[in-house]
Amino acid sequence: MSLDLKALVRTIPDYPKKGILFRDITTLIEHPEGFKQSVEQIAERYRGQGFTHVAGIEARGFIFGAGVAIAMGVGFVPVRKKGKLPGETIGQNYALEYGVDTIEIHADVLGAGNKVLLVDDLIATGGTAIAAVGLLRRTGATVEDAAFVIDLPEIGGAAKLEAEGVTVNALMA
Ligand code: PRP
Ligand code: ADE
Repeated sequence: MSLDLKALVRTIPDYPKKGILFRDITTLIEHPEGFKQSVEQIAERYRGQGFTHVAGIEARGFIFGAGVAIAMGVGFVPVRKKGKLPGETIGQNYALEYGVDTIEIHADVLGAGNKVLLVDDLIATGGTAIAAVGLLRRTGATVEDAAFVIDLPEIGGAAKLEAEGVTVNALMA
């Protein structure tokens, strides 16, 4: 039976800053069927299309991205926050809805011939996802698809990501 996944996401006002309506996915992933259906619905959309890897963005993107990679039978590439990867890295700065940050991947990961699906829990300004796509493309990999559990369309990030040549899908707005 198909669940109302949106009903499992909780909204917390004024976190982490006043004025932000924080979409909290911990209530979704705590629900075994809700978590499973979120991952399955994403994987189903992209199976059989030649993807070689899922890339997930630390930290919430790891939760869904790892599940989607397993469900699709492909490898997982962690896009990590600065200073966490042990090998040589390449990095990209970006602006968030509530701050600034840097993401990194290993310099020797992926490369030409690989087709990557980017997965994260949520897209707001699109700053994180655009930085991740740019970083993954620097390896020579193809990145033309991104999947999110939640899109906040009023903030406009998905449209910006589409303008970068990435087709965006989200399970809910
Ligand atoms: C959140 C979310 C996305 C990003 C979306 O991550 O998980 O990665 O913000 O915002 P944007 O579209 O405006 O860039 P956050 O940096 O808060 O990190 P976390 O996953 O470690 O909580
Ligand atoms: N990341 C960026 N904006 C967010 C929001 N409104 N809720 C949860 N995570 C976010």
